[in-house]
Amino acid sequence: MGPRGEVPLTEPEEIAETSPLTRYEIASRRSVDTDPETITLRAPESRDGAELWRLVRRSGGLEENSCYAYLLLSTHFASTCVVAESAGSIVGFVAGYISPSEPDAVFVWQIGVAPSVRRRGLGKRLLQRLISCRGARSARYLEATVASSNLPSRRLFDSFAAELGVTCRESRGFEREDFGDASHEAEHLLRIGPLPESQECDESH
Ligand SMILES: CC(C)(COP(=O)(O)OP(=O)(O)OC[C@H]1O[C@@H](n2cnc3c(N)ncnc32)[C@H](O)[C@@H]1OP(=O)(O)O)[C@@H](O)C(=O)NCCC(=O)NCCS
Repeated sequence: MGPRGEVPLTEPEEIAETSPLTRYEIASRRSVDTDPETITLRAPESRDGAELWRLVRRSGGLEENSCYAYLLLSTHFASTCVVAESAGSIVGFVAGYISPSEPDAVFVWQIGVAPSVRRRGLGKRLLQRLISCRGARSARYLEATVASSNLPSRRLFDSFAAELGVTCRESRGFEREDFGDASHEAEHLLRIGPLPESQECDESH
């Protein structure tokens, strides 16, 4: 680790595998500043889709979807998604949407933070920004499903709820057999809220 807590975001061999270099890879060759103060949050754009896909692939703990899915999230769902950027590289994201069947809930489909910047409050910042997005204005609850073995994820949602001073209720989400794959863990549904009414809206997002 460098003097300002700088660490390379990827292993050099991972960079060497892919050619030609993408914007993400070029940024990865620089070091990423892990100081939380220098990480900015913004809405995703179409150019971010492929980078999000890469972040998911290298982060671990997240189910990998197609690059096309991340392109859709970065465009059609941009008003309920947030990316975290440091030195031109995406180091975290949350992908959410307003539940079609329950419009009072913003559902977190995926949240991921690059290993080099974990446990510095970025996950909570992403959730906080999500609930202040214009697209999530109607949401009174934040929902997500979490596997029992995913302690970091569970702690993130519990801590987020505690900071807001609201409850995090757990109920049945998706059972193992719902995934059609015996090795897939069941996912419990977490429902956090009611979200504070005074939540300030970010008009730019
Ligand atoms: C889950 C994840 C997004 C958390 O991001 P993060 O930036 O490290 O989270 P934060 O720093 O905001 O931490 C939030 C809380 O969780 C706790 N936490 C985070 N990682 C933890 C770990 N590995 N073990 C124990 N507690 C942990 C923190 O201590 C903090 O609690 P506190 O506020 O009481 O101190 C990150 O670990 C990740 O990307 N994991 C892989 C992808 C994943 O599993 N995503 C969730 C499923 S969609």
